[in-house]
Amino acid sequence: MRGLILALDVYDRDRALEIAECTADYLWAVKVNWPLIIGSGLKIITELKQVTGLPIIADLKLADIPNTNRLVARRVFDAGADYIIAHGFTGRDSVKAVMELGETIIVVEMSHPGAKEFIQPVTDGLIEMANELEPFGVIAPATRPERIRYIRSKLKDNIKVITPGVGAQGGKAGDAIRAGADYIIVGRAIYESENPRESAREIFEEVRAWS
Ligand code: XMP
Repeated sequence: MRGLILALDVYDRDRALEIAECTADYLWAVKVNWPLIIGSGLKIITELKQVTGLPIIADLKLADIPNTNRLVARRVFDAGADYIIAHGFTGRDSVKAVMELGETIIVVEMSHPGAKEFIQPVTDGLIEMANELEPFGVIAPATRPERIRYIRSKLKDNIKVITPGVGAQGGKAGDAIRAGADYIIVGRAIYESENPRESAREIFEEVRAWS
């Protein structure tokens, strides 16, 4: 199964709910990040679930000691998040603290140019950890389809590959899917569009065409 995830990086509650509602037909899940949680509070997770009926991914990129990761993750799962994104570089114990509470997605590489400095050199170790812990999925960069292909080739089949970087960051949904991505994350290309529903539909069709 392939699907589209909306990265809902707006501050405003009403705008977030409006965009989520009008694009929901084309989405597999809605991803919330710090901008929306800071702007609208944690309850936005519960509200988005009610309005869309879709899974909610909390992209917190947790990167702390196990106890702090646990304290944060507990409240976020309690609010209704179905998945939490955590950094892997903090080590197995920190990641396990999140995984013990709910479905987890581990960052093994990032989509921005700076990811080449420190994260990309340790991707192999992060993949090894993911294969051992077997989270729901890992994050790989749609801006570098060759890295998606590499990560997919090293990863156990039961672990999903989830890729941000399509649209505003220059990646293409079709390229990412052909390289092995299961889910595509898109933010600005949808929520900054004059017609978010139509933009979501176009990307959804592209994902479907290559699936
Ligand atoms: P845009 O507007 O660029 O939004 O489509 C992308 C969304 O995805 C997040 N993002 C990442 N998350 N690893 C991650 O875990 C990454 O490499 C990465 N790149 C982008 C970003 O925060 C935004 O929510």
